[in-house]
Amino acid sequence: MQKLFTGLQPSGALHIGNYFGALKPFVELSKEYDSMLMVADYHALTTLRNPDELRANILGVAKDYIAAGIDPEKAIIFKQSDVPEHTELSWIFQCLVTVPFLELAHAYKDKVAKGLEANAGLFAYPMLMAADILLYDTDVVPVGEDQRQHLEYSREAAAKFNNAFGETFKEPKEKILKAIATVPGIDGKKMSKSYGNTIPLFGSKDGVAKAVMSIVTDSNAESPENVYAIHALVKEKYELSDLYKTNKGKYKALKEALIHDLESVLAPMREKRDSISDEDAKRILQSGGERARERASKKMADVRKKVGVAI
Ligand code: ADP
Ligand code: TRP
Repeated sequence: MQKLFTGLQPSGALHIGNYFGALKPFVELSKEYDSMLMVADYHALTTLRNPDELRANILGVAKDYIAAGIDPEKAIIFKQSDVPEHTELSWIFQCLVTVPFLELAHAYKDKVAKGLEANAGLFAYPMLMAADILLYDTDVVPVGEDQRQHLEYSREAAAKFNNAFGETFKEPKEKILKAIATVPGIDGKKMSKSYGNTIPLFGSKDGVAKAVMSIVTDSNAESPENVYAIHALVKEKYELSDLYKTNKGKYKALKEALIHDLESVLAPMREKRDSISDEDAKRILQSGGERARERASKKMADVRKKVGVAI
C-alpha cells in the first residue's frame, strides 16, 4: 500500500477554508493509503510563545482530524515532538544544504522582506518538514498550493543525502489540493486566520450565523457572489440554481439558507468533536506516537550508520 503523510500546525482554530481546502481531502485520500497525519507542534513553536495555548491547540488538531472523519485505528495520528527522530534528522539535513538555498524559502524570505526578525527555527523550517516526510518513505503528501515549495525542498534534501551517503530516501510527490478553488472569506479575499475574515469550522451555531450575515455582498449584483461561492461547497450547483433564481436580490434570505445548509454539514462534526475528551485525544496521540516511532527509529538506525555516527 502506498504511503501518505501530511501535517497541520497547531496554531489556532480551523476555519471552513481549512476544512474544504485541506482536511476534507485528507480524509478522502487517507482511506486509499497507509496514512500518517501529524500535529506539527515543533513547527508551531517557530511562532507560538504561549505553552497553554500550544497545549490546547495540539489536542485541538487531534480532535479536528477525528471529527473530520479520520479513523485513528487505521491512520496514524501523532504529534511531531513525540518522535525525536524528526528533529534529529532535520539536523543532518541542515548540515547538507547551504545557507543561500534556505534563504530562498518563502516563509523566511517574506518575513525578512517585511523587515521582521526571523528566528533560526523559521530559517530551518523546510528541513524539519523534509525530515517529517522522508523518515517514513512517503509516496504522496497532500498539501495546499502554499506548501509546494516545501515539497521541492524535501526532494532536494533527499537527493543531497542520497548523493552523499547512498540511496536511502525516496523522493516524495506532492498532491496539490486544488481546494475547489480557494475558499473566500467574509470580505471576499482568501479566507485566512491572518485576515480575520473567517467562518469558524467548529464555532457555535450563532458564531457561524454571525459570520455568514456579515459576508460582504456587491449591491449591484442580483446574485451575491461571495455567498454563492461558499454555498457551492455544501450544495450541488443544480440545487442552488433554483434557490438563487427565486431569491434574486434577496440577500438576507440567501444568507439564511446558507446558514441552514452549512449547519447541516457542520453540526454532526461539531457534535463528534465535542464528544472527544482531552483524555481521548491524548490517548490517541500517545498510541499514534508509539506506532510512528517504531517506524522512525528503524529508518534512523540506518541513517546513523550511513553518516557514520553509529560506531
Ligand atoms: P491560514 O491561511 O488560515 O493561516 P493555514 O496556512 O494554516 O491557513 O492552512 C492550513 C491548510 O488549509 C493548508 O493546507 C491550506 O492550503 C489550507 N487553506 C487555508 N486557507 C484556505 C482557503 N481559504 N481555501 C482553501 N484552502 C485553504
Ligand atoms: N508546513 C505545513 C503547514 O504549515 C505543516 C506541515 C509540517 C506539514 N510538516 C508537514 C505538511 C509534513 C505536510 C507534510 O501547513
